Amino acid sequence: MKLFVDTGSIKDIETIAALGILDGVTTNPSLLAKESGDFRQNLKRICEIVQGPVSGEVTATDFAGMLQQGHDIAKIHEHMVVKVPLTRDGIRACKALSGEGIRVNVTLCFSAAQALLAAKAGASFVSPFVGRLDDIATNGMELIREIVDIYDNYEFPTEVLVASCRHPIHVVESARMGADIATCPPAVIDQMFNHPLTTIGLEKFLKDWEKVQAVKA
Ligand code: E4P
Repeated sequence: MKLFVDTGSIKDIETIAALGILDGVTTNPSLLAKESGDFRQNLKRICEIVQGPVSGEVTATDFAGMLQQGHDIAKIHEHMVVKVPLTRDGIRACKALSGEGIRVNVTLCFSAAQALLAAKAGASFVSPFVGRLDDIATNGMELIREIVDIYDNYEFPTEVLVASCRHPIHVVESARMGADIATCPPAVIDQMFNHPLTTIGLEKFLKDWEKVQAVKA
């Protein structure tokens, strides 16, 4: 299973990439709006850091505008993936851009029916938002199970990119269900490392080792 980071922060991406466990990056207009500088330059720099797919989202809502912005985004770097919303125009743009060999990530997916449309339109990735479903008292992970089942039934090549992950359980459950990718904010990747028994165990190992060194000295 691949792990992506969901951020526009170059500093955070550099830190996580240095750990050697990062497969890609997702951004959205809200995340990029938090960063200073030109968004195209920022995306280019992110692509240089990460040797994997980097999603950049269109902000146009009509088909022609999405195509134009999609071409613009794809030109930034070979790692760029064009993110389009799951609307009628978005699905149409997905079909057109995918037909040209441009990878598309269909975002803002909240139902299995929508995920089916994304696969039929040739999306390389579909992004179901689990955290935002949980927020409205709907089980986000159930949606992942449904999408994985449907894609498996028909061997759709579209990768299930679990988005809006809020905690490590979302990532673990995604892996158990066979989702292809989880994209997480830096804080969630950080939480994945933590276990109190690891911290306590390491402290004890080091203390015991110090005792041996003291006796030898
Ligand atoms: C995914 O591509 C989105 O950028 C993201 O996961 C949305 O997460 P949020 O619901 O925490 O904003």
